[in-house]
Amino acid sequence: MSEPKRIPQHVAIIMDGNGRWAGLHGKERYEGHIAGVEPVRASLRAAARWGVKYLTLYAFSTENWGRPAEEVAALMELFCRSVVSETPELKRQGVRIAMIGDRSRFSEKVQRYLAEAERETAGGERLTLILALNYSSRSEITRAVRLLASRAAAGEIAPESIDERMISQALDTAPYPDPDLVVRTSGEQRLSNFLLWQSSYAELWFPEVLWPDFTETDFDRAIEEYARRDRRFGLVK
Ligand code: FPP
Repeated sequence: MSEPKRIPQHVAIIMDGNGRWAGLHGKERYEGHIAGVEPVRASLRAAARWGVKYLTLYAFSTENWGRPAEEVAALMELFCRSVVSETPELKRQGVRIAMIGDRSRFSEKVQRYLAEAERETAGGERLTLILALNYSSRSEITRAVRLLASRAAAGEIAPESIDERMISQALDTAPYPDPDLVVRTSGEQRLSNFLLWQSSYAELWFPEVLWPDFTETDFDRAIEEYARRDRRFGLVK
């Protein structure tokens, strides 16, 4: 493969198709999620190799609470188990784990495991893995609006001083640059409440592959696809 010249600094992925993959293989849905862990490792390896600095993964949406209780429980267990088992390798690779979303709805145990993974990997400087957990854009924006409204009501800021930068700073993603590339697997072509504000100028790519089948080569294809796009940010050349 020839070396693409433009590398996205931030790639965000909607990991879709675990349930369909499980169905195709005569397995339970939770087994599709378990099979979805290896593509996370593969994506991290490829992202680090390309010099991508931020990788955001949509792991659990605010809507996912509506799934069958066993599936939600299996996902929570998988998150806990994965962050514990992967942390040593992530540390070795210089990967820092961070999170966006409202974690307060998770059990104390899950919150403890996630916080521990963040603490353990805090020194990672090569790549930041941002897990979107109990995340949705509309709930994130709603929380940000509430925060700014309460600051305005308290007289800390003038309503007319609220600008795009201030809104960005009130979002969970405040510390990170906007995604350059958003990938959704499984052929679905929707953003499903994911990084709506932040993806205003992102390139979008929708490969057919189901998430459990996503490999390092697929990630390489995403990088190549991005390098071909002509980003103009509403301007002319
Ligand atoms: C969407 O597929 C996937 C999820 C809701 C869960 C994603 C979780 C993982 C890949 C587990 C590993 C992640 C980490 C961070 C350890 P779906 O169930 O909606 O698939 P379907 O549309 O085919 O039903």
